[in-house]
Amino acid sequence: MHCTRKVTSDLTWVGADDRRLSCFEGVYGVPDGVSYNSYLLQDEKTVLFDTCDKAVFEVFLENVDYALEGRKLDYLVIDHMEPDHAATVELLVRCHPGVKIVCNAKIQKMLTQFFNYDFSSDILLVKEGDTLSTGRHELTFVMAPMVHWPEVMFTFDKTDGILFSADAFGTFGALNGRLFADETDFFNDDLNEARRYYTNIVGKYGQQVQMALKKAAGLDIKLVCPLHGYVWRQDFGRYLEKYQLWSTYEPEEKGVLIAYASVYGHTANAANILACKLCDRGIKVKMYDTSVTPASYILSDSFKYSHLVFASTTYNNGIFVNMEDLLHDIVNHNLQNRKVAIIENGSWAPASGKLMREEISKMKNMEIIGDGIKLLSALKEDQLSQIDALADAIAESIRG
Ligand code: FEO
Repeated sequence: MHCTRKVTSDLTWVGADDRRLSCFEGVYGVPDGVSYNSYLLQDEKTVLFDTCDKAVFEVFLENVDYALEGRKLDYLVIDHMEPDHAATVELLVRCHPGVKIVCNAKIQKMLTQFFNYDFSSDILLVKEGDTLSTGRHELTFVMAPMVHWPEVMFTFDKTDGILFSADAFGTFGALNGRLFADETDFFNDDLNEARRYYTNIVGKYGQQVQMALKKAAGLDIKLVCPLHGYVWRQDFGRYLEKYQLWSTYEPEEKGVLIAYASVYGHTANAANILACKLCDRGIKVKMYDTSVTPASYILSDSFKYSHLVFASTTYNNGIFVNMEDLLHDIVNHNLQNRKVAIIENGSWAPASGKLMREEISKMKNMEIIGDGIKLLSALKEDQLSQIDALADAIAESIRG
């Protein structure tokens, strides 16, 4: 049975939720599910904006048919070719023969890569600034390369001020009926998953996101329709401020993220003592065990907080595996502009401190603060002063 919602009087959300997906992109756990958004415009011509993941194709096709109200589908606009949105393009075209695919040249090339179907007679190629009239509405196209793939574009409905923003401004989490961000307590209930989505999916491409935001700033936007998560019709500026911080790698909050990797609890003990001493000094702390919490959550909070502490035992003469993976992930996501402190452990040949510093040095404007703490198996009473000194250095840096 179809399951749709009206965005405006002539625009209908025809997407679907998936609450059974164990790993988005095969990597990111989505305990609250995910939505695949698609939108159908009823104008003199009918226009579908993107398709959906193959996991939800049945309800998606039903939704499209329902929203079409018996009319034929004239245009399919493809803004992004990643299969969570484009996997059902061939199926859609087979169900709606004669539909014109509106896309740019990079998208056309990817269509030939992903499908063994000849779309060539159905393509209407567009480039930056081109317009398409569908009757009352006039659409224009804004290239947004690397937000999140190189072919990505935004489509802007100039008539109603609607930005179809592809992956930008999306979030993890099923909609659960709530199509609009103002139907949920977004900044309390959803921001963490929005940050985890942005930082893990698009976080590496801050420079390109900045370019896209500058282009979007020139548009008179009244509604934002992303491919995941909520439609924005109120308070969008507040969300935009978060994107501004995330894409320039500026922290949202002064506070300390402590991530530790500990085999028998001794490194965890030192990290816990540091956390207590920071809290004693009035500093906000968020703490993770890298063996317990998936890297995507820790990476997300590394974008949130101003100061990071990494504590790891030495393992196979290197950094403990989960911490090594986390640091690679953070480096690969291009994090910048943080103050970092290090705690290392090693019972006979501690090496993780030096190696963690080497990883951190690969990122821009990362400053190591305080004296690194070296544990030989376990923290000793006479080292408590070192933890105090590190807590003082971090607190001073935060207050400074
Ligand atoms: Fe939601 Fe980059 O695809």
